[in-house]
Amino acid sequence: MHKEITITIGGTAAGRVVGGSRIAEIAPLLSGEPEVFVVYDEQVSWVAGEVMAAVPGVRGSIAIEATEEGKSMETVLLIARSLLEAGASRKALVLAVGGGITTDLAGFVASIYKRGIRYANVPTTLLAQVDAAIGGKTGVNFDSYKNMLGVIVQPVFTFICAEVLQTLPRRDFLSGAAEMLKTFVIENEDDHYARALAWISSGSTDGQELILAAAAVKAGVVSRDPFEAGERRKLNLGHTFAHAIEHEARLRGEDVTHGEAVAMGMVLAARVADALGVSSGLEASLTQDFTTAGLPTQCPYPMETLAEAMDKDKKAEGGLVHFVLPERIGSVVIRDLSVAVALNALITN
Ligand code: GLY
Repeated sequence: MHKEITITIGGTAAGRVVGGSRIAEIAPLLSGEPEVFVVYDEQVSWVAGEVMAAVPGVRGSIAIEATEEGKSMETVLLIARSLLEAGASRKALVLAVGGGITTDLAGFVASIYKRGIRYANVPTTLLAQVDAAIGGKTGVNFDSYKNMLGVIVQPVFTFICAEVLQTLPRRDFLSGAAEMLKTFVIENEDDHYARALAWISSGSTDGQELILAAAAVKAGVVSRDPFEAGERRKLNLGHTFAHAIEHEARLRGEDVTHGEAVAMGMVLAARVADALGVSSGLEASLTQDFTTAGLPTQCPYPMETLAEAMDKDKKAEGGLVHFVLPERIGSVVIRDLSVAVALNALITN
């Protein structure tokens, strides 16, 4: 029996998140689809192969190299050209199989191909299962800016399959684990945060119940605020700092995963929250928790070097940045602060 979560926007079902244990269970989700085109990350070709074996309506497949450099308009055009050459009509459905880069790219192509066709996601990383593949954010990088070109269009479904995580490298697993912990810092029903910490530390990859719980939190937020006018900003907890850390790492040619940057970013957000009296002792407790989980907590770069990148962050509006600050586990607030105020809180605490 599939577990299913519906994303409802303006009273209408806009998409669903479906849990399953085996890849073949995707077949009923695509029954009656005459034209499925699979866009997949070549690193998980085995997943795409199993999908194609299980789904009779697959008309074509397009392999991509899913890298940040390749998350570009060039790849969008390459996929669009492949769809066109294969004769994809307006009835076609693009099925993205891969991590967040693949689902962002494939969803963006689908949203503009012939003025928009449907797409669905089979996320193959923990990060995409709990975050990137849910909620309809699609797009590509442009110049030095991440996700600068894109649209928000909901996937028809996101199939969260336990089997695909079997080959996920531990470092990638931990990257997704950071996003899961972020989700439960935002909303912590049923003590999910502590249970997630225990699961992540255990080394087991079998965490379908927690993954679907995180997906449900995200689906709820997206249902209430699909276009990030308010509440959805909470999902950016730790991300203003994380993007700055990733930017600095790129400049230095260093390797930091998104989740590692998010873990460090959440600790920095907690430091600001503690300094402003929004929380008390949260930096220390998050540091301890994330260390137990095997995540980095100390940003290796001087705080001043993060400032410029944060100033340029696309979320900056009118000189202020929407900082998401944790009050305690299960509750965050949004404060519009200048980068200077945030930096001062970081440096003096
Ligand atoms: N990754 C945050 C969001 O989808 O809003």
